[in-house]
Parts: sequence; structure tokens; C-alpha cells
Amino acid sequence: MDNKRFYITTPIYYPSGKLHIGHAYCTVATDAMARYKRLCGYDVMFLTGTDEHGQKIEDKAKEAGVTPQQFVDDIVTAPGGVLDLWKLMNIRYDRFIRTTDGYHVAAIQKIFRKMYDNGDIYKGTYKGKYCKPCESFWTESQLVDGKCPDCGREVVDAEEEAYFFRLSKYADRVQDLLENTDFLEPRSRVHEMVNNFIKPGLEDLCVSRTSFTWGVPVDFDPGHVVYVWIDALFNYMTALGYMNDEHHDLEKFWPADVHFVGKEIVRFHSIIWPAMLMSMDLPLPRKVYGHGWLNFNGDKMSKSKGNVVDPYLLSERYGVDALRFFVLRTFPFGSDGNFTNELLIQTINVDLANDLGNLVSRTTAMAEKYFGGRLPKERQRTDLDQELGGMTVSLRDRYEEQMERFQFQNALEEIFKVIQRANKYIDENAPWALAKDMEANGARLATVLYNLLETVRICTVLLTPFMPESCGKIFAQIGADESARTWDSAWHFGILPEDVEVHKGENLFPRIDMAKELEELDRIQEEAKKAALPAIEIEPQTGEKVDFDTFCKSDFRAVKVKDCQRVKKSDKLLKFTLDDGTGTDRQILSGIARWYAPEDLIGKTLVAIVNLPPRKMMGHESQGMLISAVHTEKGEEALNLLMVDEKIPAGAKLC
Ligand code: ME8
Repeated sequence: MDNKRFYITTPIYYPSGKLHIGHAYCTVATDAMARYKRLCGYDVMFLTGTDEHGQKIEDKAKEAGVTPQQFVDDIVTAPGGVLDLWKLMNIRYDRFIRTTDGYHVAAIQKIFRKMYDNGDIYKGTYKGKYCKPCESFWTESQLVDGKCPDCGREVVDAEEEAYFFRLSKYADRVQDLLENTDFLEPRSRVHEMVNNFIKPGLEDLCVSRTSFTWGVPVDFDPGHVVYVWIDALFNYMTALGYMNDEHHDLEKFWPADVHFVGKEIVRFHSIIWPAMLMSMDLPLPRKVYGHGWLNFNGDKMSKSKGNVVDPYLLSERYGVDALRFFVLRTFPFGSDGNFTNELLIQTINVDLANDLGNLVSRTTAMAEKYFGGRLPKERQRTDLDQELGGMTVSLRDRYEEQMERFQFQNALEEIFKVIQRANKYIDENAPWALAKDMEANGARLATVLYNLLETVRICTVLLTPFMPESCGKIFAQIGADESARTWDSAWHFGILPEDVEVHKGENLFPRIDMAKELEELDRIQEEAKKAALPAIEIEPQTGEKVDFDTFCKSDFRAVKVKDCQRVKKSDKLLKFTLDDGTGTDRQILSGIARWYAPEDLIGKTLVAIVNLPPRKMMGHESQGMLISAVHTEKGEEALNLLMVDEKIPAGAKLC
């Protein structure tokens, strides 16, 4: 076995809508891990992709009036889609699988048949709750108040013929795997799996459906399509060439070193996936790591709540690297994290602008100012150098230990301790004071700056997996060529040439004005929330009956607007002078000033109810009410006065 190879995967995403920062979280973590392993000299395979089958996609495509294939093609490949997002986030994957890829579909059919032939897939009856209008099966626990979670209508008990995977057969082996190996991490997730799912008794798993068609067809039983997990989980192997000739990397990369997955799909990856592999007599992946969720302001991110965090927006404002850095620096990977705009800006200001940005710009600026950019070779060392040098040269080991355990936050913490130490070293050595007497102190000043450059260099090597683009710029500023950017070079202090040439470049991480920025983000967030609301809502009919005689008592008349004016001190009211056909002007006040300019209404023919008792509004009497149509648009009420044909004479009764 070649131990210098590393196979890492993300979950494959459902292309049922736009991806948000929660989805990007796992992919950024995987990318950082893959880059780290490449840096260490591993031959890396980083796989990601999309999980494109299933009822949800079929339904959404129908709603959009396109075929399911067109629907997923659009979300995966269109501008702003999945591929675009990974490009934006600088995700360097090695392979991208779509479960609609022909080679994958054919391989899944072979896998399904093999499990059927070995007796682990059998035909049975799927019993569930069925919603007829939605043509969907639900489990008891998915129902909302006993009704269909999609449309809220009644469900009925129903059955359909389906294939099942003998998951129960593997319960003991899977329990042993979870309890007695480090297959699943963090360990806290092991107890949850064993106690909540295995101990109560593992049931066989339904692996085909006949109630929808957008899936991999079971080739030996028309009408059945493979249902979710065989199709989705085996992507990790078909993408390497398992049961197909499209790829040829299975021998090299299987078993996977680690599957990174979100906590809600740990069950599928740590129970169902190993059981299926056991059934097929295949080697198991070495590890499944269940990461936490990113919430927003303490709440689950959800499109309907309008609180999804948009990676496009944030990276445009702060840069992709700042965003990548923030999610991995701030939240422990195994636990849930609470994303807030304040925390994001604070992290950028403290870590990137103050600590790292300052260290780089002060160091390069001083090298330019005192030595024209090229350090002299003379050195003068003191005890002050020991602590910084020792801490920096041993950083790689501490960082490696954390990275190997996927503790990105701790690995970054180690780097930032060194960065903070280096900033302190600047103050301790006061280069500006040394520079006052270059003849006496020039060698010492050059030593101080060289030590700082070396510290920046080593930290930058180790930061590269997190912020590849910015690190490239820092290397260029401090004069680090390719050989000074390697994993090996991060273990040695003194790799830069003695007379290194530096260039102070752009300010990589500008400070952000917190208060102003928060206000702006809140405004954008509110707009997004509004945009997520249904475009138009109409009040449902009450259903309450009114008898005909009562209705006839309401006297509706056509009225013509003779004059219309704003009511002073009111932003709502307009005061109408109306011809109601009686020869005497009628005055009505109406709360529609938000929607009409008074002058636009003069001459219009409207509808009023004229036998309401008069009432006072802002000191003016209103003799009736004008009729408007009401609806809600993007969460806000909208009123339209009912206007009728101008041929209708003033006073005509409406009945
Ligand atoms: O589950 N924070 O796809 P998916 C962190 N197709 N992670 C989040 C998140 C958040 N707010 N929201 C979503 C699927 N995720 C299946 C996977 S794998 C063989 C099949 C994560 O698009 C979520 O936890 O619904 C999951 O790991 C991933 O995004 C894909 O979710």
C-alpha cells in the first residue's frame, strides 16, 4: 500500500436550490485538508459532486416546467451554480461526480444486481403514509400534525412493492466497527449512532421506489428506481472506477482515508455505508468525520427563513480567503457553530488585519524604509531571538498534530500564537530606535527584520491550505521563492537568503469599520429576507356565509373624484371630494396615500360604500368607504383602488 496517497471526499450536494455558506463550510474544510496533504507530499484525490436523483428534484423540475435533467444541469453548471461556487471559493477538487453521469448510473445498476444476486437485496412491501395529490410516501415521523409535510393535506396508509437491503444482518458487525475502532469521529457521535439507531434494532432499508421515475432504473424490474442511498453512497467508489471503465484509480485510492459529512448524514455514512460495503465484500473507508452545522444568529439556516448566508456576497465584500479562514478559524469542526456578521468582521479585523496583516506590512515596510528592500548580510544575534526562533521552528509539529485530527481551529490557533509573538518581538526590539544609528545598529536591525521575515514565511507556508491566494501574495512580498514555500522548509529557520529582497505590496486585509458594515449587512439581509417571501399572497376566503338580505343592505355606488388632497400630518390618508350623483358633494377619507399621488386620482370613477355611519379621521369626517383590492407583495400589504369604466355615471348603484 502506498501510504503517500490520500483520498478525501465531501458529501455530494442536492442541486435543488442555491448552495449557502453551510454547504461551503464542509467543502472549504475538505479543500484545506487536501491542500495540506498535497503540501506534505501526498498524492491526493479530492472528490466532490452532486446527488441529482429523487422525488424532490422531480417535483421541483415539474414546478419549473423543465425536465429533471435540465433542472439539475442548470443548478450545477449555470452561472452562480455549484461549479461556479466552488470556483469562487477556490476549491481545488480533483474529481467532480454527478450521479446522472452515465458511467455512475450503469455502475449502480450492476451494484444493485450484485446485492440482489447475493441475497442482500430482496423484494418486499413498503408501508407508509401516502399523500395522493403529492404522490409521496412519508414516514410517521415526517408528518406534520399527522398531515403531509409538503401540502398539509390528509395522508392515507398505503403500500407499494419495493426492494429492501438486509441492513439488519450487519447490525453486530457495524456496532463492533463503531465501538471498537476509530472509524467514526468525533467519538461523541458513536454513542448517538449505537444508542439511537443500532440498539433499538436496525430495520432493513427500502432501496427502491415505484412512485417516482427520476432515479437509476432497476434494470431487471421496470418501474422500480433505486432509492437514494445506494445511488448516493457508491459515488465514492464509482468516481474511482468501481464497476466502470471511466476511471481507473480504485486500486490506488480505495479505501478512502476520510469522508467529511454533516452531522445529519452521519447515520448513512457510519451505519448504512459500511453495511453495504460488507455486503459487497469491499474494504471499508478508514474514517468518517461528522462535522457540525453552521447556524445563523442562533437559528438554522433556511431559505424560507431568509437567513441563508450568501458566500458570493461575503466574498465579494471581504475576499474569498477571509471567508475561508473565518469558518475554519472560528468554529471547532466537530461542533455546531453560530455564524454572525459581527464575529466575521471581528475575526477579519483582529486576526487578519491586526495580527497577520500588520506583521507583514510592518516588516516589509521597515525593510524597504531602512534598507531599500534588500537586507545586508551582516548579522548580530541576541537572546531576544531565541524564543521567537524556537517557537517558529517547532510550529510545524504542533500544527501537524492538529491537522491530522481535523482540528483546523487549533492548528490556526498555533499559527496565530506565533504571529502574535512576532508582533511583540517588533515592539521589544524597537527597530525604529535601532534605525536612528545605522552604523552601530545596522546589523542588529537586519537580524531583527530577517527573523521576522522567516517567521512570516513559516506561518505563511502553514496558512497556505486555508488562504492560498493571499499566501501567494505574502510569499511574493517577502521574497520567498518556491523552495521557501515547501513543507520541508517550514521546519527550518533560515531558508530565505541572507540578503533577501522584499517588496511591500498591497494591504492584504484592510480593517473594516464594524458599525457601518453591520448596518449595511443588516440592510442587505433584510432585503434578502423580503426577496425570500412569496411574491404575491392573497388572503384566503373566509368561507363564512352572509345572507342575501344582509348583503343587499350595503349600498355600493360609482363615485367620481372631483378633488383629492393629502391630509396634513398623516402619511396614510387622502381626502376625497366625490360626486355621488346626489348633487351634494360627499367627503371620504381613505388610507391609500402610500400607493397614489392625489392628482392622479382626479377624474377617476371609483366604488364606495355610502351607507356606513360617518366617522372622524384626523379631525375630518368620512362619509363612507372607498373599495380597494388588497394583497400582500413580498410580505408587504398593497392596496389598489377599485376603478370602474368612466362611462358609468356617478351614483350608479352596484349590485
Ligand atoms: O445531504 N452547516 O445533500 P445536501 C453545515 N445529497 N453543513 C451544512 C449546512 C449548514 N448550515 N447545511 C447543509 C445531502 N450542510 C446528500 C448527501 S452523500 C453520499 C449524500 C451540509 O445538499 C450537510 O450537513 O442536503 C451535508 O453534509 C451537505 O451540506 C450536503 O447536504
